[in-house]
Amino acid sequence: MLKLYTKNPAEYNGDLLVYCIGQPTKGLPVCPHDMVKSMLTRAVASKDFLAKEGQTMLVYPEPVRGAKKTVGRVLLVGLGQEISRETYRKAGGIIAQAAIKVKAAKILMVLPEAKDLSVDDLAECLAEGVILGAYQFRKYKSQEKDPDDEPVMLKEIAVSAETDQAAARRGLKRGQIAAQAVCQARDMANEPANFWNPTHFAEFGRKLASLYGLKVRVLGMVEMKRLKMGGLLGVNQGSAQPPTMTILEYRCGRKAPVLLLVGKGLTFDSGGISLKPGSGMHEMKFDMCGGAAVLAVMQAVAEERPKGLDVIAIVPATENMPGPAALKPGDIITQYGGKTVEVENTDAEGRLILADALAYGVSLYKPAAVVDLATLTGAVIVGLGHHRTGLMSNNDSLAEQMLASGEKCAEPLWRLPLGSDYSKQLKSTIADLKNLGSRSAGAITAAAFLQEFVGETPWAHLDIAGTAWDFTEKSYVPKGPSGVGVRTLLELIRTFKTPA
Ligand code: BES
Ligand code: ZN
Ligand code: ZN
Repeated sequence: MLKLYTKNPAEYNGDLLVYCIGQPTKGLPVCPHDMVKSMLTRAVASKDFLAKEGQTMLVYPEPVRGAKKTVGRVLLVGLGQEISRETYRKAGGIIAQAAIKVKAAKILMVLPEAKDLSVDDLAECLAEGVILGAYQFRKYKSQEKDPDDEPVMLKEIAVSAETDQAAARRGLKRGQIAAQAVCQARDMANEPANFWNPTHFAEFGRKLASLYGLKVRVLGMVEMKRLKMGGLLGVNQGSAQPPTMTILEYRCGRKAPVLLLVGKGLTFDSGGISLKPGSGMHEMKFDMCGGAAVLAVMQAVAEERPKGLDVIAIVPATENMPGPAALKPGDIITQYGGKTVEVENTDAEGRLILADALAYGVSLYKPAAVVDLATLTGAVIVGLGHHRTGLMSNNDSLAEQMLASGEKCAEPLWRLPLGSDYSKQLKSTIADLKNLGSRSAGAITAAAFLQEFVGETPWAHLDIAGTAWDFTEKSYVPKGPSGVGVRTLLELIRTFKTPA
């Protein structure tokens, strides 16, 4: 999709030519393209375009007499004065949306001079922004009656770099791998629950494995019974769809630490017998966004093939439905590993399926660290809104790595505490644990429940209930599922250090 363009941008004859323009602290913004120079001067004079962040200007340059046919449209995108990695992602998103609006399928972006950032960073972030900003999910839309109304997809994105071509190529590749994985996660989440069921997670895992040579294992009901995974089996009891546990292994080929990723793959959460209210229940098809992120990141891992790290992904998947055999409040189940749990509320189901996956993964793979992603609690939305993912961890070094990775990707996290005061709330009078704390601190007591199943292994839990969809909207993050977590996990993998 993305490629480096090595000719002179002035000779480009695709649909749209794009320049990103910084706002100088002194003097006027400039564009190197001769045909738009005078127009830019007039736009600046009239203060219509000052190259502030987010400003755009579309021009239709006068063709030069006798010259070869060149591009018909030029887009100028303002970057503002303080330029960061995020500036380029946002600019990329704006470019994608502008291109879609004018139905430009072939575009060329000219990389600006790298002043505040490296060429690597600039190319990476622009690539991420443009691919993510161009994301659309149209699978279920019929064709428009008038072909002119039919939206155009961005087909070819070329990038021209004046200076360090090798760095630009590296950055573009990194950005493209990350963004395509995010789009994959968004696609899975956008699918309705009557299509994307637990079996689909397994199929996707198998497809990735055969495409990239990863190892895949899918546990079905028979294996789950043999392994005594009472959490996943219990939650599944009320559903007509069989559960799956999809396990993907990337091995770097030498002796290396294992990073274990676990994602909640609840393909529809009705609440079960503790039924959710009707309004908004349709959004609970997104309760599989943690699982989607974890499998999507394996696609990126398989493409990048990190050297000193093995990465294993586990996605426990089921629906949570109130069928005749469903779990009832008060039922007691036995999780993988033998701990018993009194189910006080069948809507607190995520922790039950994650507990099996975490305990199984930790005992089988002996990971150096485990990270789980889950749309786990409404409480995290009360606390942090739709702007930050909740982070809870039993290990400071891992928590720091998570915070730094999130920050770098503009997927910010906020750490919440754990501790015995919270864990105590999960004591049951008749079983080892119950699946519900008191009314307050719901995001933390949910994490405290998971903590019981990872032992001493360094572990980080990301509660993405507020960010998996309805995440802070910006040019490259649409309404609907955001694919949050994919880029943060990929950054963690790219920079991972075994936690002390
Ligand atoms: N999937 C939900 C959490 C959720 C709520 C995600 C809203 C996104 C938006 C989870 O399974 C759930 O129902 N949690 C309950 C827990 C409660 C019963 C302790 C909740 O948050 O209300
Ligand atoms: Zn629930
Ligand atoms: Zn749920």
